[in-house]
Amino acid sequence: MRKTRLAVFASGSGSNYEAIAEACRDGRLDAEVVLLVCDKPGAKVLERAKRYGTESFAFTPKDYESREAYETVLATMLDERGVDYVCLAGYMRIVGKVLLERYEQRIVNIHPSLLPSFKGAHAIQDAVEYGVKIFGATTHFVDETLDGGRIIDQGAIVYEGNDIEELTNLIHAIEHKLYVKTINKLINKKF
Ligand code: GRF
Repeated sequence: MRKTRLAVFASGSGSNYEAIAEACRDGRLDAEVVLLVCDKPGAKVLERAKRYGTESFAFTPKDYESREAYETVLATMLDERGVDYVCLAGYMRIVGKVLLERYEQRIVNIHPSLLPSFKGAHAIQDAVEYGVKIFGATTHFVDETLDGGRIIDQGAIVYEGNDIEELTNLIHAIEHKLYVKTINKLINKKF
């Protein structure tokens, strides 16, 4: 049977991309990553994609006239590869209407907080400053709102220390399992 075809969009390190690629490789996911899209040429995720033999496309948004212009290029690449789901994994850009319309309910994101708390780019730091003790990660469908969209899954931990690096690593470990679980739900249409 045809495997589910995934595209991963990332801007940085790509540990979530790697968790997904590894699960595809070892059979925990009946899927394949057919394209890695990166808006930061030189990002570490591109090296990871090379190691896993994933086709990658790195681009510089400023080279395009508008978000619509580069998203039109991306949408064509996704269509050509028969992508079923787009997984945002540390993609530090707003997704615009070109992709949202073409891939409605087929774009998901992972965020390092228990949404709807602590949206935005500094979620872990913000949560620590607020004094919360239960941290976690959330996967959700992407819509036009920032870190909004219907929640698919969450994972949580209790952490009472104050070492941000340690906490970040703990949350990343949750994310890596959570994303695989979420993609399995998408594959089995259980969401
Ligand atoms: C993750 O914490 C994810 O929740 C957030 O960006 C981070 C990406 O990490 N959206 P990585 O590049 O997958 O290692």
